[in-house]
Amino acid sequence: MPVVRGKIIEPLYSAEAIAERNRSIAAEIAKGPTKDLLVIAILKGSFIFAADLIRALHDVGLAPEVEFITLSSYGAGTVSQGVRIVKDIDSDVKDRDVLLIDDILESGRTLLFAKQMLYERGARNVSIAVLLDKSVKRKEELEADYVGFECPDYFVVGYGMDVAYAFRELPFVGVVTGDALGES
Ligand code: IMP
Ligand code: MG
Repeated sequence: MPVVRGKIIEPLYSAEAIAERNRSIAAEIAKGPTKDLLVIAILKGSFIFAADLIRALHDVGLAPEVEFITLSSYGAGTVSQGVRIVKDIDSDVKDRDVLLIDDILESGRTLLFAKQMLYERGARNVSIAVLLDKSVKRKEELEADYVGFECPDYFVVGYGMDVAYAFRELPFVGVVTGDALGES
């Protein structure tokens, strides 16, 4: 079992399994609306998935433009939860086919916010690709168009995703299961 920063990480999705899903997702995306395609990766968690997926898109013959947006959730409590733009995209999305990429679809708030905002700005079509779908945690009526894996309700790390800024560099997705060598 991999040990990083003194923690045991149990792999859930291997680098190979993810690469294979990325190839399948790219082939699916190529069948959808891709005229003048603009890919928007939602930072920070999606940066590795996006980097791999856009290269898989190249392999199936697509030539997207790539943009980044940093979104942040606020109000972690139960009542007023919202999403705000920390750093916006530079491009005009009017009449563009947009593919939003995120790491995890959980409550759906982040991606619903992003999708609605892009339609308000005049995007022609907005579709969503996520590596992981934690559908049991959904709070909004929103589904992704392309999903890597249906994810159990674990807090996962790696392949871009962090816990307290750690573990983004792992080439696989895993779960922190405990301390190595009996350390606490
Ligand atoms: P939601 O769909 O608005 O609830 O937000 C999902 C976002 O929460 C994802 O883009 C991640 O940034 C973060 N997130 C949710 N679950 C996890 C997890 O298990 N590990 C790391 N980040 C997570
Ligand atoms: Mg995120």
